[in-house]
Amino acid sequence: MSEEKSEVTITIQPYGKRIKVPKGIDLLEAIRRAGIVIRSVCGGMGKCGKCKVILKSGQVDFQYNPEEKLLTPEELDRKVILACISRCLSDCEIFIPPETRIEGQRIQTDAAIPKISPEPIVEKIFIPKEALIVEIQRIRQQYSVTEFLSSKLEEIVKRSTEGVTVTISKQDKRLMDVEEGNTKNRLFGLAVDIGTTKIVSYLVDLTNGNRLSVASEYNAQIAYGEDVVSRISYAMESKDGLGMLQKAVVDTINLLVEEMAKKH
Ligand code: FES
Repeated sequence: MSEEKSEVTITIQPYGKRIKVPKGIDLLEAIRRAGIVIRSVCGGMGKCGKCKVILKSGQVDFQYNPEEKLLTPEELDRKVILACISRCLSDCEIFIPPETRIEGQRIQTDAAIPKISPEPIVEKIFIPKEALIVEIQRIRQQYSVTEFLSSKLEEIVKRSTEGVTVTISKQDKRLMDVEEGNTKNRLFGLAVDIGTTKIVSYLVDLTNGNRLSVASEYNAQIAYGEDVVSRISYAMESKDGLGMLQKAVVDTINLLVEEMAKKH
């Protein structure tokens, strides 16, 4: 007797992506899990008609009410379905049409940002080799130092030929990091503008306020609704919805940080 499959494979075109998902999951969730963001204004409530995809092959349970008139008869003939109300019943291949994709629109990042004189709450202090014993003792007395940083400090001090640079937080009086050599001039800050649609981040040189790099990306929360109200509904009504939304925004910021860090 053949065992019923508990997982199905979804092939997503034109990206050529394949993903295994639990059988019965809706296509919008499968697309999200594949890391693709599509339009979903209502956040997957089956109300906006924006998450259109074309079913090329396979079987889905499409729970569509024609009275809602979200699709035209012509679209239904072309096997256009709404991803959020289509549960995957077998291996499927779908095509995401251009109007459903969120890409190719230019993200504006060239806003005029006034030059600022930063007053960072962190400071880097270079301690030359000859002053290490006295200065390290002072740091230990004046700042809180975790066990991890304490051993790192000892280790770096032992092997350092030139001296060490310590990063301290002036706000809560704690040691934040220790580096070998003089890295005093490499003090960076990150400014992040989190918008409903896009996230723009700036890497700033905190020693002089110069903007070193800018990176932008669509806010991955779009996959859970294009407006704030839809996202709030998603957070309230879905199991771990809030966690998913938080992860989406953090993932986007991490992506931007990684992109900018590679350049500096
Ligand atoms: S109808 Fe599917 S996201 Fe709105």
